[in-house]
Amino acid sequence: MKDSTCLYNASLREVLEAINAEPAGTAFIKDDDEKLCGIVTDGDFRRLLLKGKGLEDALSKSDFGDYVVANQGDRFEDLLKKTNFKIRTIPIIDDQGHLVDYFIYNHKTRFTPIAEPSLANEEFNNLMDAYSSTWISSRGKYIDQFEEGFSAYCGVKYGVATSNGTVAIHLALKALDIGEGDEVIIPDLTFAATINAVILANATPVIVDVNEEDWTISPEEIKKAITDKTKAIIPVHVYGQACDMDAIMAIAKEHNLKVIEDSAEAHGAEYKGKKVGSFGDASTFSFFANKIITTGEGGMVLTNSDQLNERLRVLRDHGMNKEKRYWHDEVGFNYRMTNLQAAIGCAQLHKIEDILSNHNKIEEDYKTALDDLGLFKWQKTYSDRKKVVWLVCALSERRDEIAELLIKNKIDYRPFFYPLSDMPVYSKYHFSSTNAKKLSKLGMNLPTVDQVDYQRIRDILSELK
Ligand SMILES: Cc1ncc(COP(=O)(O)O)c(C=O)c1O
Repeated sequence: MKDSTCLYNASLREVLEAINAEPAGTAFIKDDDEKLCGIVTDGDFRRLLLKGKGLEDALSKSDFGDYVVANQGDRFEDLLKKTNFKIRTIPIIDDQGHLVDYFIYNHKTRFTPIAEPSLANEEFNNLMDAYSSTWISSRGKYIDQFEEGFSAYCGVKYGVATSNGTVAIHLALKALDIGEGDEVIIPDLTFAATINAVILANATPVIVDVNEEDWTISPEEIKKAITDKTKAIIPVHVYGQACDMDAIMAIAKEHNLKVIEDSAEAHGAEYKGKKVGSFGDASTFSFFANKIITTGEGGMVLTNSDQLNERLRVLRDHGMNKEKRYWHDEVGFNYRMTNLQAAIGCAQLHKIEDILSNHNKIEEDYKTALDDLGLFKWQKTYSDRKKVVWLVCALSERRDEIAELLIKNKIDYRPFFYPLSDMPVYSKYHFSSTNAKKLSKLGMNLPTVDQVDYQRIRDILSELK
């Protein structure tokens, strides 16, 4: 570390030795009190030579002007935020201003992931607390806390935590007695878990189209698909956008259908001032690692019904009679969440609003950086709904070219889901689909993480202008 430092009046030869001393490729310049007062990168050095400076010439103040610095103890995320396409080396100083370390981040060579869980001290402390309590299976204080906390956050009476979001849908279907011979209407644009859970429950999925504008299940198409076998609708608040819940609940009421809201991608989203997950007979969430909040793997079913809550809990635990242990009245499952997962979930729940506002900011930053390229149409917002940014979404006629450029530059990219009806394994359940097919071809998710370098993405995509 010491060798990469030199004094403010060192010769360029000494500066070069300092640059070469450490992989940072940077000389850290000190004043007479050994305090950091500037940096000279290898690029700065080349520019000094081009200006006509010689190796025996001394540095002058103007050779090491503005620089970005971090403080000892700063978090990794804060260090990352200080870097960008041009600023790659950040010196770290102590309280007295002395150099103690440095941080290098090369956005050109580093992979930018599509999503990353936001894990910090509270998650770790909770996890260790659950671990050292030895309550590492599906009993323990964090399970109750997480169920109560998350259901209260959504404005629903009960929360039943599960091992993932797929089994949460299956559990809800079973608890609502939906099975053989029953039809369940689902949207064409969703992750396959929605349809898999219906098939797993031995019910028949009926795939209908989504709205072109909001991308969620079309109430008009639901109406057309109803038969005397229809038992339920699973609206999916896809990509953080709330479905048109007034229209869907009105149809359900008219035809006496159950509603299970698949809210896996929309924690915190609202429709007319009420959180998604609070409208249907039951709703389900996923806490997979790329979701808005995570428990690693995990899920939850929410309901306001006392009776359904009881039934969900019995079925989640092998169908075991609650009064008479090891007596089983019906066939159930082991769909329980562990106390370890819930411990992480409790910490995540504390910061859900921060995560949501950070994701909103990331979406805004993309818009600011990329709008004038004219390549993207962003996800719509509606005055009576609060959409959440799970992953930043955009549509583009040039999606595949954009994808190619991003991937080539190690920037993660995700195409929208394929329409369920396009996949041979599900196509026999197809009822209607035009918009889903269109959206699936144009839609993409962009990295929704702190270390996105908007300027670099702009530079990369400018080639398509
Ligand atoms: C719409 C939707 N439903 C259900 C699920 C299933 O959740 P999990 O992956 O936790 O099983 C997901 C998650 O990817 C999803 O996006």
